[in-house]
Amino acid sequence: MATVSLKSINKWFDSSQVLYDISIDIEDKEFVVFVGPSGCGKTTLLRIVAGLEDVSSGEVEIDGIDVSSAHPIERGISMVFQSYALYPHLSVFENIAFPLRVAKTPKAKLQEMVMRAADILRLTDRLEHKPGQLSGGQRQRVAIGRSIVRQPKVFLFDEPLSNLDAALRGEMRVELSKLHKSLNATMIYVTHDQVEAMTMADRIMVLSEGKLEQFGTPMDLYHHPKTKFVAGFIGHPKMNFLTASCLSIDSDGVKVELPAIGKQLLPVEPIKVNQGEELEVGVRPEDLMLSETGKGLPLKVDVLERLGGSTLVYGSLDKYPNFCAMLQGDANVREGELVNLDVKPASFHVFDSNGNAMKRREVPEILK
Ligand SMILES: Nc1ncnc2c1ncn2[C@@H]1O[C@H](COP(=O)(O)OP(=O)(O)OP(=O)(O)O)[C@@H](O)[C@H]1O
Ligand SMILES: [Mg+2]
Repeated sequence: MATVSLKSINKWFDSSQVLYDISIDIEDKEFVVFVGPSGCGKTTLLRIVAGLEDVSSGEVEIDGIDVSSAHPIERGISMVFQSYALYPHLSVFENIAFPLRVAKTPKAKLQEMVMRAADILRLTDRLEHKPGQLSGGQRQRVAIGRSIVRQPKVFLFDEPLSNLDAALRGEMRVELSKLHKSLNATMIYVTHDQVEAMTMADRIMVLSEGKLEQFGTPMDLYHHPKTKFVAGFIGHPKMNFLTASCLSIDSDGVKVELPAIGKQLLPVEPIKVNQGEELEVGVRPEDLMLSETGKGLPLKVDVLERLGGSTLVYGSLDKYPNFCAMLQGDANVREGELVNLDVKPASFHVFDSNGNAMKRREVPEILK
């Protein structure tokens, strides 16, 4: 059992504030990812949970108990860092056993716990090796093994995969998700990689410049981003944005003028905006299709990326130079040509001039 609650956490380093009023409740056995660009405060917040950094104001609760001033060792947490420091002269077995030796764990118990961790992490046939004889992924697993044997209530990971190559990162993502299921533990995982966040998290907290932008399930963030920042951060390739002035707004949605296609009613739940206000209209590359009719958004194609299963088409649309469409398969498009793209009105996202989203009316079947 381990819930983690952050209550109005503020953090200052000297005169600069790096975290602003962060409040979230993490459930028992949940896998929560903190994601956001470099410098947004992810590591600082994780170190606050671990007790390696003080809060300036606010509280950290673990299992309902305020641990804000408790020593890291008293919190029942274990943290795995990006740069995992293994002891090069010790074997894999001894590296994993290290915290148990420090705690003077009886020999038989120590043996059993290390063997169990090695089994979970598929390191059983590497136990006599030294770290220098291991691959990057295996070394990372040894570092995780060392945290497993401590039997923490909460696992904290700070970008543990960022030193690995892309293929190994993909593999380790799956390993960590399996580990989460088999250990049945609460985990908080920090990354700036939105794909890692989307694939591993039960819920994701998006941070920007020390502020909580949104906390929700991956599909909630993808389909219903609350801010333009979240909309642009979650999803790959990134959402395209167009500015469009608000022509009218009523209970059916908001009417805007879009480049080339003209007036369009977008089915969103309106928030207070004024007629004539400049809105941001977002459309994901994967929601664009080649138009059969020769109408639709006109895109002058600059660059094609053919990935086999899909084709990424980059070009300029009206005054927007880096517009991207993701078309199915090996699309029949050539560099230099002008194509027209269709998009369903319900696929558009609409943001006010402060970047706040209007909730979309129509949601995919899967979310109903
Ligand atoms: N000990 C410190 N003293 C002063 N400023 C700090 C300290 N640690 C972090 N900061 C500042 O706090 C902000 C948040 O840093 P933090 O390391 O939490 O970011 P991050 O989101 O983990 O970034 P990255 O993705 O690059 O690891 C940054 O502006 C950083 O410069
Ligand atoms: Mg960091």
